[in-house]
Amino acid sequence: MDSFDGAILTIFALLITIYYKFEAIKAILYDETEESLGAISSSGSREITTVIQENDKNYIVFYGTQTGTAEDYAKMFAKELVGKFSLKVMCADVENFDFETLNELPKNVMVSFFISTYGEGDFPDSAVSFEEFLLGLDESEQSLNRLRFTMFGLGNSTYEFFNNAAKKATKNMINNGATLIGNLGEGDDGTATTDEDYLAWKELILEDIKEALLLQEHEQVYEPSMRYDTLIANNVDMDTVSLGEPSKHYLPCNKLPFNNQLNIQTGPFNHNFPYLAPIVKSNELFGKEADRSCVHAEFDISGSNIKYSTGDHLAVWPSNSNEAIKKFLLAFNLDEDEMFTLKPLDSTVQLPFPCPTTVSTAVRYYMEITGPISRQFFNSLIQFAPNADIKQKLSQLSKDKILFAENITSRCYNIADAVLHLSDNQPWKTVPFEFLIESIPPLKPRYYSISSSSSTEKQMIHITAIVEKNIVNDESSPVLSTYGMTTNLIKHIECSQNFEEKTTDQSGVSFNLDGPRDLFQDYKLPVFVRRSTFKLPSNPKTPVIMIGPGTGVAPFRGFIRERVKYLEAQSNSNVNLGKHLLFYGCRNDQDFLYEKEWPVYANTLGEAFQMFVGYSRVPDAPKKYVQHLLREQREQIMSLLKEGAFIYVCGDAKGMSQDVHATLVDIVAEGLTISENEAIDMLKVFKTTGKYQEDVW
Ligand SMILES: Cc1cc2nc3c(=O)[nH]c(=O)nc-3n(C[C@H](O)[C@H](O)[C@H](O)COP(=O)(O)OP(=O)(O)OC[C@H]3O[C@@H](n4cnc5c(N)ncnc54)[C@H](O)[C@@H]3O)c2cc1C
Ligand SMILES: NC(=O)c1ccc[n+]([C@@H]2O[C@H](COP(=O)([O-])OP(=O)(O)OC[C@H]3O[C@@H](n4cnc5c(N)ncnc54)[C@H](OP(=O)(O)O)[C@@H]3O)[C@@H](O)[C@H]2O)c1
Ligand SMILES: Cc1cc2nc3c(=O)[nH]c(=O)nc-3n(C[C@H](O)[C@H](O)[C@H](O)COP(=O)(O)O)c2cc1C
Ligand SMILES: *[C@@H]1O[C@H](CO)[C@@H](O)[C@H](O)[C@H]1NC(C)=O
Ligand SMILES: *[C@@H]1O[C@H](CO)[C@@H](O)[C@H](O)[C@H]1NC(C)=O
Repeated sequence: MDSFDGAILTIFALLITIYYKFEAIKAILYDETEESLGAISSSGSREITTVIQENDKNYIVFYGTQTGTAEDYAKMFAKELVGKFSLKVMCADVENFDFETLNELPKNVMVSFFISTYGEGDFPDSAVSFEEFLLGLDESEQSLNRLRFTMFGLGNSTYEFFNNAAKKATKNMINNGATLIGNLGEGDDGTATTDEDYLAWKELILEDIKEALLLQEHEQVYEPSMRYDTLIANNVDMDTVSLGEPSKHYLPCNKLPFNNQLNIQTGPFNHNFPYLAPIVKSNELFGKEADRSCVHAEFDISGSNIKYSTGDHLAVWPSNSNEAIKKFLLAFNLDEDEMFTLKPLDSTVQLPFPCPTTVSTAVRYYMEITGPISRQFFNSLIQFAPNADIKQKLSQLSKDKILFAENITSRCYNIADAVLHLSDNQPWKTVPFEFLIESIPPLKPRYYSISSSSSTEKQMIHITAIVEKNIVNDESSPVLSTYGMTTNLIKHIECSQNFEEKTTDQSGVSFNLDGPRDLFQDYKLPVFVRRSTFKLPSNPKTPVIMIGPGTGVAPFRGFIRERVKYLEAQSNSNVNLGKHLLFYGCRNDQDFLYEKEWPVYANTLGEAFQMFVGYSRVPDAPKKYVQHLLREQREQIMSLLKEGAFIYVCGDAKGMSQDVHATLVDIVAEGLTISENEAIDMLKVFKTTGKYQEDVW
């Protein structure tokens, strides 16, 4: 292979894929946009200065988020500005504003941004119009010259374009005359240090803000942004009370004909109005001897008007386990039946969930109570410590990151565990519930790579979910275990649906499968479809290289079913399909996903389909990973790349996708006799042009 061929290959790749990428971008742009919560000012304005004035605010915290992490940090930050400096802070989604008046804010009003990065270094969907605003500025006009801002990016260094959105926004604003206060903060999920990165950045930035705005600092006090009113059940129309309905539309008082059996079109369904999709079929995918569980679940979307395309993600809303709720209620001495309503103290505050409602509803459906705790949360609890001894322990732990890691994080305590640990199992009676509502992250949907194909099953969405459970070994306490909320809920549904005994890998927890007012009966869960750019090349003749060990194989099942359908639909049996290679790895024959299906697909696809499988945990045999399989096929891979093959990687973001990348670099460098750096650059071009796509988590 000489370098001339190499150059041709790169240019050729560029040309073909620019076209493809364009198609993908178009598909996303013209997608039905998610219903936004709309303007949040009383006058319905999206104009920053108006909203600030109307609500008498003197500080803005904006967030741009895909899955809510940036929002959580923005809110924490806003709370701290209020608690420490008595600033009047508006905390809001960039999606809800136009930015034309960004430079016209009063002189002493500063703006803090929290922005996460998605795709290949892109802005999150909700920040697209903010990005457009920035890109539309003319640097020669210096039209942000009055703006003073801070920036914290949320990203994952396992991705190539680390925190790219925050970096781009910062650079752009500075180039247009704005002043960055302090450092650009970079939260890194990849090293699981987002929290510590934030805390380190925050310490410094609060000093900078204090100085820039000449603020007085006082000990942090909780200033609610909502009023909490207890209601007397007799005085409330029960039909208006939310018991965990995934949207107001489902409340009895709104009498919406959501029953899809009646074939009534409702929706459009989206993040704010999820569809209650029944799981009509589910089964365990692993063998009897496996010590883990992986569930195949089929969601019926017929009658919902929901469309998806192969490679998209399904978002699924879980709810907390009965046991976790019980412990939480106990830890904070809460009355599960208490009915209450929340009233925002100003119009920039959005209610976290529909009200009126009950305490147990809020805990079960809206609060993330089982995940790891942040040091920041511990810090904000200090003011409510039930006694001096606990107060001292709390301050010590929240100040010392190593002590916190040893005593709290490494024991995998959730909030209730930690609180009860500190108080020797005595309930804390001193923490206002509204504080918990505002400080504990809201329960978020989980995403699953769709493993069906929209051309084979338009009305059915399949997912492939590995049931998460971890044993925690800790000398100082009995063996604890943590469990994944959604995946264990789905496993429960699978067991119930198939009349299976609860298997041993269950985590000893139980869920309310019937949902509020029995709305989830017949195994329904709230879902919506999130578009992705993880898509097969539109030309079926283009060769495809798929790499997906473990659950990473999920979208490739969809891809292969898509190609099977395509071939079956052709009347001419001579249509030629490009070569489709699938590299798969698992521990042994017990966790070989869809083992019996692949030969059936191979029957139809013939020579166009080749699957390579490696086992990593077979006694007396060396580990065989997908990388080893790739190396074995390097010649075939090179020749397919020269024909314009697309590369797809799905599964583990940390180890696997990076190791696979490194292996591909080797293969390309060797195959084209180019340097490692040149190979890296070439794969970078592949990535930016959509020829090398990753769906990793
Ligand atoms: C784009 C995308 C695609 C995905 N596709 C798939 C897919 O196809 N298949 C799939 O199976 N998954 C997929 N995932 C992952 C999936 O979204 C969920 O993250 C996963 O299923 C776990 O969700 P859960 O609710 O069961 O676990 P969670 O409740 O979110 O818990 C997560 C983990 O934290 C542990 N944990 C719980 N409490 C604590 C604590 N106090 N301290 C420490 N650890 C704790 C749990 O044991 C668990 O392992 C995808 C993710 C993304 C982002
Ligand atoms: N549970 C965990 O400990 C763990 C660890 C990492 C990621 N995850 C999460 O779980 C998701 C899916 O996991 P899963 O349970 O489906 O996978 P899995 O069954 O744990 O792994 C699938 C296969 O990939 C192998 N593998 C491990 N590290 C690899 C690497 N660096 N490169 C190539 N192959 C590697 C595994 O080998 P081994 O026998 O050597 O494991 C196994 O053969 C991941 O995307 C990630 O989010 C979980
Ligand atoms: C599909 C996907 C793509 C991502 N792409 C990037 C990326 O290109 N660069 C980066 O730094 N982080 C990337 N991330 C990591 C997220 O930015 C990070 O997890 C962040 O904490 C999410 O914040 P959010 O919940 O506010 O959206 C990606 C995450 C996912 C799930
Ligand atoms: C980022 O990287 C970590 C590695 O710690 C991985 O486990 C995680 O799933 C990734 N996070 C996201 C949101 O992709
Ligand atoms: C942390 O854990 C150690 C060992 O269990 C214990 O001695 C110490 O008191 C703990 N510190 C705090 C503040 O809880």
